[in-house]
Amino acid sequence: MASRPEQDIVPAAEPGLKAGDAHYTAYVGPPEQYDFMGATQFRLLCSLGLRRGHRVLDIGCGSLRAGRLLIPYLDPGRYHGIEPNAHLIDAAFDHELGHDIRRIKAPRFAHVDDFSIPFDGRFDMIVAQSIYSHTGTALLARSLTAIAGALAPGGQALVTIIEGGRDHPGDHWVYPGCVTVRPATLRRLAADAGLGCERLAWFHPRQTWYRLTGPEGRRLSWRDRRHLSGAVLGDPTLSLSHRPLARALARLRPWAARRLPDGLKRALKRR
Ligand SMILES: C[S@@+](CC[C@H](N)C(=O)[O-])C[C@H]1O[C@@H](n2cnc3c(N)ncnc32)[C@H](O)[C@@H]1O
Repeated sequence: MASRPEQDIVPAAEPGLKAGDAHYTAYVGPPEQYDFMGATQFRLLCSLGLRRGHRVLDIGCGSLRAGRLLIPYLDPGRYHGIEPNAHLIDAAFDHELGHDIRRIKAPRFAHVDDFSIPFDGRFDMIVAQSIYSHTGTALLARSLTAIAGALAPGGQALVTIIEGGRDHPGDHWVYPGCVTVRPATLRRLAADAGLGCERLAWFHPRQTWYRLTGPEGRRLSWRDRRHLSGAVLGDPTLSLSHRPLARALARLRPWAARRLPDGLKRALKRR
């Protein structure tokens, strides 16, 4: 897995940075959404019942977009992050969290890149945000098997994929480019690993959230689902979050671009 030298990570956000650039706010995604992408993960976990005593694992925790909210919230020793690029975590403590919190909250980190979960004990919540948008299906399958072995009874894993009509075969890591996964493939691989798998309507600007549960886990009811939208009011850049129909149409756009004849596309554009 590619890692970047530590000196590449410069301290202050610069105008013109784009996703994938060598800055801790950009390497993990669009820098202008560094705050939002952390907050939306934190809100999703809290909406699904996260409490301070839960054990949490953040697979590919990067520069702690979610971790900088989870670490202060959780009791000491409860936050666990896996991240091969250790310098991203260091940058988050240097520029976002400060170093005292490492002593106070004792977050734990592992720097493996083989999708194993090298921590003892089981987890109430596992999050893997924008990880399987970069893995071939063999790597995805390996990670789901590890998740199945690490979930506590009743635990939940929240993962994102870019849904598409094609899978990306193989076991390599694609970055900063992205790969798609067919929803049916995710469901099949989750079932092979012994995990229940359900799609969530929680807003994500580019990907789709899924919830995975072990054999003792229960699916969400439609009553539960009413409380899970992830919508953000008043922010024009996130306006699709509270317009489910427009969101569904936006999701169809790449499919339509591939399948519809040019004449029909032009006619639809004129409308
Ligand atoms: C798109 S970023 C997402 C980071 C984080 N989940 C977030 O939402 O901010 C993908 C992260 O996966 C990390 N990564 C790369 N190879 C990995 C591996 N083999 N296992 C786990 N994480 C990996 C990258 O270093 C990067 O921090």
